[in-house]
This record gives sequence, structure tokens and C-alpha cells, in this order.
Amino acid sequence: MKKGELFQDIEITDLSAKGKGVARIKKAVAFVENAIPGDLVDLQIIKQRKGYFDAKLVKMHQESDKRQKAVCSHFGICGGCRIQNMKYKNQLKFKEQQVLNSLTRIGGLESPEILPILGSETTEYYRNKLEFSFSTSRWLSQEEIASGKQIENRQAVGFHVAGRYDKLVDIEHCYLQDKPSNDVRNFIRQYARNNKLSFFNPYHMKGMLRALFIRTSTSNEVMINMVFGENINDQAIDLLAALKTEFPEISSIYYLVNTKKNDSIYDLKPVLFSGNAYITEHMEHIQIKLGPKSFYQTNSIQALELYKTVRQFGELNPDEIVYDLYSGVGSIGLYLAKDVKKIIGIETVEEAVHDAEENRRINNINNITFYSGQVEKLLSMDFANENGDPDILIIDPPRPGVHKTVIQSILEIKPKKIIYISCNPATQARDIELLTSSYQFIKSQPVDMFPHTLHIENVSLLELK
Ligand SMILES: C[S@@+](CC[C@H](N)C(=O)[O-])C[C@H]1O[C@@H](n2cnc3c(N)ncnc32)[C@H](O)[C@@H]1O
Repeated sequence: MKKGELFQDIEITDLSAKGKGVARIKKAVAFVENAIPGDLVDLQIIKQRKGYFDAKLVKMHQESDKRQKAVCSHFGICGGCRIQNMKYKNQLKFKEQQVLNSLTRIGGLESPEILPILGSETTEYYRNKLEFSFSTSRWLSQEEIASGKQIENRQAVGFHVAGRYDKLVDIEHCYLQDKPSNDVRNFIRQYARNNKLSFFNPYHMKGMLRALFIRTSTSNEVMINMVFGENINDQAIDLLAALKTEFPEISSIYYLVNTKKNDSIYDLKPVLFSGNAYITEHMEHIQIKLGPKSFYQTNSIQALELYKTVRQFGELNPDEIVYDLYSGVGSIGLYLAKDVKKIIGIETVEEAVHDAEENRRINNINNITFYSGQVEKLLSMDFANENGDPDILIIDPPRPGVHKTVIQSILEIKPKKIIYISCNPATQARDIELLTSSYQFIKSQPVDMFPHTLHIENVSLLELK
């Protein structure tokens, strides 16, 4: 096979972890953008890579029966919702298969028990938090370019084009977050244009409007955090005031100024412009107060399914000690506290630990202690001696998984059970493989937190041999 070569009537047999259709031609593998399993296509090789090829779809002969029409008009360009063109039941099968592939190929497990994935009842408007960016570098459609006309308006507020940090899709309607998310974003865009507020220029790193965080909650509270790329002035204050008047349902408006090169707001201090300092989420018997920088699972309804799975896997009893590692705002520990003797949480973000403490206080829970710091630095035999040996270890790390020294500490401390929650089945499988010298893999429960996207959440149970 070589670049430019055409292949006809090829069936797409699989979907890669990155969402491309997989075609097997002769003995080679080609990844095809915008193709899904079951499509019958003509394709052209566009690039040779190490051990595989990239190809483009040049003609569709027969569409797969797994296809559906993507509901979003931005589908295909926007970096979110990459598999919205696949029926939901097939999305779920794909995710189950990804978990199986990781556990067998990376984790080295022979035939791991994987419970049927817990699908989401709502596949649209399921996120409680979105971050939109502003830019002077709008993604132009093929028609706009082909028209040859002078393009006056290049401002955009929305999401990045897949793989392009500098280009933004100007979002008109996003199906990920409930009201008033779309109205708020569109109002700010229109207000900014009418009042000549500048949009952020990603090349010159200048411009007043830089990012917009919108948080909604199951208790119908709404928190806005407006990020300005330049020092705040009267125009910016007027925008916040207009937002407050236009949307009385907004319960908190924050702003912050970010003039740094990077977009991270975690080292910056949000200022409360109006309303309450927190919004509140409810999870069965507990309430969770969230500030503008607090981490919280972004699909509140599925988060409860995830935590219920943890509770079932734990089969907790009142004399047990549980460690909740990578505890965020403490929500898992708070949820389980009434069923066990004691919970110890470890979390690196100080503000999150502060929120966790506050949540412990408002829920009147007295058997949890939260530590602020990195798990790899804090977890040790000495730590376990001081805080009590854990019967159950819950780990919920970010995508890169668990640090090697954490695996060593776990192998020394030897809790009876490990419940490993992961948003990246590949790193989870790698870590499970490292633990299998002392632990037996029992089962996994995938949970779909993010319909229409390639993201997969998986809970695995391990028991000490
Ligand atoms: C996937 S979130 C889990 C949060 C929480 N368990 C929940 O259910 O909401 C991962 C958390 O790990 C924290 N984190 C990342 N690296 C860490 C480290 N090395 N040590 C401790 N916490 C860390 C992040 O700040 C984040 O809150």
C-alpha cells in the first residue's frame, strides 16, 4: 500500500479507541476518519505510519445499520461528541469492547468478568459543567472559503476544532448542557459584538473575553465564571451586570483575570461579582457545595450510578476503614461514610480539600479525615499505621493512572479490597497488571458518563489473594 492508492468496496470492521473506522486491507490496517463499523466504502491512503495507514473516505457505497443522523449541526468539526453519528446501543457496545480489549491486551487477563455497561438514560443535556473559549480565529466552513468573499467576522465563542488549539467552532447550540447554557453563551457573544468588547486573540494572547465556565446543578442553580484576558474595566463590569439582569436564574456570577500564556485557572483567584459563593448538588442523602474551581463528576445522574457501583463492590460493613484516594471534593467518601467506621481521603488540590472539609461539616459527618497532598508522597506504611490499616482502598486517579510508587505502597499496605475507578481503561489495565502479583481481578463495571463521546469510565474490583 502506498500514499494515494485507492481501495474499493472495503468494509469497516471496527472503531479505534480514537474514534476512527478500522479497515483491514490485505494484511495492513487503515484508520478512516468519519467511518463507522459496517460502512462499505471506497478509501484512499493519505499517510503511511509505523505499522498502519491513515485513509480518507472517498465514496460511501452503503451506510452501516449502526449509523444515525447526528443531531448537532456542528458534528464532524467540533472536537466533542465524536460518535454522535452512531446509535447509542452501538456506542455502548463499543465502550464495553474497549474495556475488554484493555483488560486482556494490556492487563494480561484471560477472560475478565465485565458486567453489562450502565448506559445513561439521558444522552443529551447531561453535563453539569461546560467551558467555552473565545477567539478571533473562527473556523471557516468550506462554503465560506469557496465563496471568495471577504470574511468580516472571525470572532467565535465555542469549542476547539478537533486537534486545533487555535481554531474555534462558533457554537450556536450545544446538546451537552441544559438551559440556560446556550442562551447565556449566545447572549454574551451578541452583547460583546454590540458593545465592541474584544475577543481573545490566541496568537497575540490579548483580548478581553477569554473563557466562560457555566455550571448547572440538579437543584437548578447556575454558576457563571467569566474569564477575562485583560485587566477588568467598566466594559467588563457592564457585561456582568447585563448578564445578571438578563438571567435572574443565575445564582452566582464570578469573574477572574487570566493574562498568562496558559488557560489554566487553577492558580488564579475567582472574584464573586454577585450571588452565592457556592452552588449545591445532591446525591441521595448528601449535599455537596461546589465553588467555581471545585472538581465534580460532570454527569450528576451517572455519577450516582458510579458511586452505587462502588458501594456494591465494597460490600461495606461498619467496622471497616476505607481510603478514598484522589478524593476531589470528597464526594465518594461522604457518600459512603455512614456505612463504615472511618474514611481517609487524599487529594492534591488544596481548594478541593477545603471544599471537602466544608462538605463534611454541612453533612454533619464526623468519621472522615481529608489530607491535602499527592498520593505518591503521602501513602506509605507509616501513613497506614497512623491512620489505621485500610480494609478497602478506593482509587480514582486522573487519566494517566496511578504513580508507580503508589502501586508499591499498596502492595506493602495490602488492603483486602481495591476498587479502582478509571476514566482511562488503558492506564487502569496497566496498573491492574502491576497489582496482580498480590491481587486477583474479580470484575469490572463500565459506566457511561459521556454519551456520544469516546470517553469510558470503568470500575474494577480486586481482592487480596
Ligand atoms: C478523576 S478525579 C476524582 C475525584 C473524586 N474521586 C470524585 O469522584 O469526584 C481525580 C482527582 O485526583 C486529583 N489528583 C490528581 N493527581 C493527584 C495526585 N498525584 N495525588 C492526589 N490527588 C491527585 C485531582 O485533583 C482530582 O480531584
